[in-house]
Amino acid sequence: MKKIGVFYGTTSGITTGIVDEVEFYLRKEEYDVYNVANGIEKLSDYENLILITPTYGVGELQVHWSKVADQLRNTDFTGKKVGLIGLGNQFAFGESFIGAIKILYDIVTANGGEVVGFTSTDGYQFQESEAIVGGKFVGLAIDEGNQGDYTPERIENWLNQIKPLFN
Ligand SMILES: Cc1cc2nc3c(=O)[nH]c(=O)nc-3n(C[C@H](O)[C@H](O)[C@H](O)COP(=O)(O)O)c2cc1C
Repeated sequence: MKKIGVFYGTTSGITTGIVDEVEFYLRKEEYDVYNVANGIEKLSDYENLILITPTYGVGELQVHWSKVADQLRNTDFTGKKVGLIGLGNQFAFGESFIGAIKILYDIVTANGGEVVGFTSTDGYQFQESEAIVGGKFVGLAIDEGNQGDYTPERIENWLNQIKPLFN
């Protein structure tokens, strides 16, 4: 497998812990980690990507991702395999749960990339989510505040799902 680029944004720091867990389960692979607050210049270097964003506002991208969204829209994703992890709160924001990853999904697919790692909505309680295509989440949904106990297993299973699909 070619090297994986992990790109994340965080406002209150919870995503940093999720990145640590992703790194733990990627420890046998080659990967690099970037906080998008420092830019996304390196993103084009990777054919395998994991993009991680919490949702803010009502279904919006985390602020550092918002700042690079135009640059992302001008990025060619042809040939790239992309896994998406969305952080959210299904009870406090049950009508826009993890909506931000749909924004990333739309950009990646519009620009020629392939999003891998859709997951079942079973086990989550929410009213609405933009991040559902064909009955599944377009990535991995993490709700650290309400279902943190499930997080390690969810990450491990999801990485096992996407790794065989990577370049
Ligand atoms: C102002 C605000 C708005 C939020 N909006 C949403 C939302 O629309 N959908 C959702 O699923 N979670 C929403 N959340 C929950 C965050 O995505 C969640 O707390 C996340 O873990 C924060 O990650 P971070 O600590 O890495 O920034 C919101 C949180 C705040 C404080």
